[in-house]
Amino acid sequence: MDRRTFIKGAMALTAAAWTNPMIIISAAENISWWQKKPVYQIYPKSFLDTTGSGTGDLRGVIQKLDYIKSLDAGAIWLTPIYPSPMVDNGYDISDYTGINPLFGTMADFDELIAEAKARDIKIVMDLVFNHTSDKHPWFLESKSSRDNPKADWYIWRDKKTNWRGIFGGSAWQWCEERQQYYLHTFATQQPDLNWENPDVRRALYDAANFWLDKGVGGFRIDAIVYIKKPKDFVDGTPDADGTCSVHNMTANTPGILDFLHEFKREVFDGKNIFTVGEANSVKPEDLKYWVGSQGVFNMLFEFSHVNIMFPNGDEVWHHAKPIRLTNLKKALSDSQAATRDSWYPIYFENHDRSRSIETFFPHGTDKILAAKALAMILFTLRGTPFIYQGEELGFANTKFNSIDDYDDISSRGEYNLARADGLSDKEAMRFVQRFSRDNARTPMQWNTSANAGFTAGKPWLPVHKDFKICNAAVEDLDKNSVLNFYRQLSAFRNSSEVLISGEYAELYHNNEELFIFTRTLGNKKICTAINFTTRKINFPNDFKFGKKIFGNYPDEKNYLRPTEAAIYEF
Ligand code: NOJ
Repeated sequence: MDRRTFIKGAMALTAAAWTNPMIIISAAENISWWQKKPVYQIYPKSFLDTTGSGTGDLRGVIQKLDYIKSLDAGAIWLTPIYPSPMVDNGYDISDYTGINPLFGTMADFDELIAEAKARDIKIVMDLVFNHTSDKHPWFLESKSSRDNPKADWYIWRDKKTNWRGIFGGSAWQWCEERQQYYLHTFATQQPDLNWENPDVRRALYDAANFWLDKGVGGFRIDAIVYIKKPKDFVDGTPDADGTCSVHNMTANTPGILDFLHEFKREVFDGKNIFTVGEANSVKPEDLKYWVGSQGVFNMLFEFSHVNIMFPNGDEVWHHAKPIRLTNLKKALSDSQAATRDSWYPIYFENHDRSRSIETFFPHGTDKILAAKALAMILFTLRGTPFIYQGEELGFANTKFNSIDDYDDISSRGEYNLARADGLSDKEAMRFVQRFSRDNARTPMQWNTSANAGFTAGKPWLPVHKDFKICNAAVEDLDKNSVLNFYRQLSAFRNSSEVLISGEYAELYHNNEELFIFTRTLGNKKICTAINFTTRKINFPNDFKFGKKIFGNYPDEKNYLRPTEAAIYEF
């Protein structure tokens, strides 16, 4: 059966799935280590501060390894810890093979690798290879003249186009020394590298191999869809403000896969590591070129399910539309279908997203019920679950009243864009409060002491006001907490052949209130059912109840209560 038939089949599937599983596959024999356990994502700046600086550090990560182990995670993905001016909190790198003193030393990093290894946890690094910091020595040399040895390591042009950078403003910046513009897909301080130059590519591969030699378990590869630029740099169709999104002009430019295959040959091949690319808007039909046996990476973070509020794909915050459950279900089911022969990174949160409870559930939903409901999806879809720090505690969005209180560079860009489009301060702030990346970046809440136990100093970003009730110490002692629910689900998922290998099928796909899907392996089946409303909803007439093994309500009814979710085993 080809993928298209499978997608249609999965979509059209209703009661037949109960008695007649479409595809039966046996327990995969070749399951790799990174498929067996979840990945825990750490934003080090906000994780645990051991020095009183107000900023988290690597020793803080070392201190909390047992906590991460308690979630049965197999790997930790660290967002960038390299030297950086921190304009974009580390995604502006000034040295690819060093450690930012803000986070510690190389000795701390080596200890982290060793201590993690002792707990059977691998460390995964974030590779940011589309751009560097404007303080990187390569850029300082490149900008110094038009004829220095690194003159074409970046993208220089005499004329600019009307492209708008992802963080707002022109994607081009004038450079006095060279009397030329340079391209920056993201912030002005993040100039794009010129991948056409083989010396640039060699230097990047060497940097990646440096970390592999240190024993890291793999890579998350940042913003990879932008590395190939089009041959001709021309203006795009302008939006109302006269600019057009750089994303529409440069993402997934033909020829990108040649670069990526070389990258794979030079860095990944023959090593027992895992790779996950961040690839906004790779189409499902192209996925086979990116992941799996013909592809480059093991998994791809695509954005279809987290961007359902942007149906026209522009991701401009104040263009957000109300979300529909059927769109979420379709996005997830399409991705499951498209990665049927490869693998999928299951995620709802990361350092770039608002907290998921408020994103996917209606206003007024009980937060604990919602956090547990999303966890049930996270651990029962097919793929590797990615837990983002705080998600396992049920963290909620934060709210600052003034744009000046936001640290996130994209919040300021979106605020300015909204104001330029005629929104009032209050209206623009509503979107910033809803979508700001700072929602995910408030410090971890460890206990009820000052600053939630995150720092003895002044936290770089205010701690969420809910920390007295929502924190790791309190939840550790409560057997019904979100944290303990995550621990149980993770242990169950990691030992369940059905959940690791079983085939996915969505049921009742037109239903706007319930998300119900099954995983099937041989004659074993697991079914997850979630009520996404704050009302009581009846099960579909032909719904089959198995043995309930997980639920966010303790008992069982023949209907679903507000936000009720359950997992059944057959
Ligand atoms: C994606 C990263 O996740 C985000 O945090 C960063 O701002 C951009 N890429 C630019 O590197």
